[in-house]
Amino acid sequence: MVALGVVGSGIMGSGIAECAALAGHEVVLRSRQQATADATMAALEKSLNRRVDKGKLSAEERDAALGRVTATSELDALARCDLVIESVVEDLAVKKHLFSDLDRLCPDPTILASNTSTLPVIEMAMETGRPEQVCGIHFFNPATVMDLVELVRPLTVSDGTMSTARAFVESCGKRAVEVADRAGFVVNALLFPYLNNAIRLLELGVASKEDIDTAMQGACGFPMGPFALLDLVGLDTSLAILEALYHEYRDPNYAPAPLLRRMVSAEQLGRKSGRGFYDYHRH
Ligand code: CAA
Repeated sequence: MVALGVVGSGIMGSGIAECAALAGHEVVLRSRQQATADATMAALEKSLNRRVDKGKLSAEERDAALGRVTATSELDALARCDLVIESVVEDLAVKKHLFSDLDRLCPDPTILASNTSTLPVIEMAMETGRPEQVCGIHFFNPATVMDLVELVRPLTVSDGTMSTARAFVESCGKRAVEVADRAGFVVNALLFPYLNNAIRLLELGVASKEDIDTAMQGACGFPMGPFALLDLVGLDTSLAILEALYHEYRDPNYAPAPLLRRMVSAEQLGRKSGRGFYDYHRH
């Protein structure tokens, strides 16, 4: 069992914490503010309660999982972790700063990982004095449901670090694929041109968003259509991913559709803000 640190208690951070706690790991979940940390604990309890209600978890297992998680606003609390996964905003400057802080705080053996979906892990690794112990561990949304994790191998990482990361991911019941440190890795490099082009079809008036979603579900067997998925991922995150992909490749397929940018400006961010391509207030 590892002592896991998770930095950032957004959709992904809290999902990763839940997976790890259910797998028996001790988790320190760090939010910037204690109020957010407390709210995340309450949300975690609610999510675990849902599992109990569905008969998938006993009340004792729920209590044990909850007991393994400490939510805090103190970055110093991460100093006792064997592995720290950051899942803060997709902003390279913020992440680099965080890696430099974590490097100073954490003991020599600690592995530092990023849950970034597009940013260069090497740039985070080079902020530390331990670039051989830095890799990407990229979970998918919702983290408790999707069973795949991309393990990202920056140029500097050691084989030992990658094996430890793989062992951790597999201990959480996930499958791992190893990918190079290249924007979008495998999944987002393929997924985001598709999502972006769905928005362009909508802009062109080719079909309604409902019909585009229905088409892709019905014809390709996807569990949700592109607009439902964009709302799940978050439109701000989707825009940041497309911008990072476009920055790296200058491929027009990655240039964010104007409507996506306008919706983010309008704070229509998807499920998390109650409104994106669809309205979630009613549900
Ligand atoms: N959070 C946590 N759990 C959720 C959830 C959520 N947002 N949505 C659904 N679930 C759980 C449900 O509780 C249910 O669990 P049980 O089977 O244990 O009861 C299970 O998922 C199935 O849910 P439902 O039957 O209600 O609904 P569904 O069959 O339509 O599945 C879904 C929902 C799992 C989200 C499915 O639609 C799906 O797989 N969608 C595609 C998601 C996807 O592509 N994710 C990758 C996004 S890209 C990304 O993450 C990369 C990045 O870097 C941005």
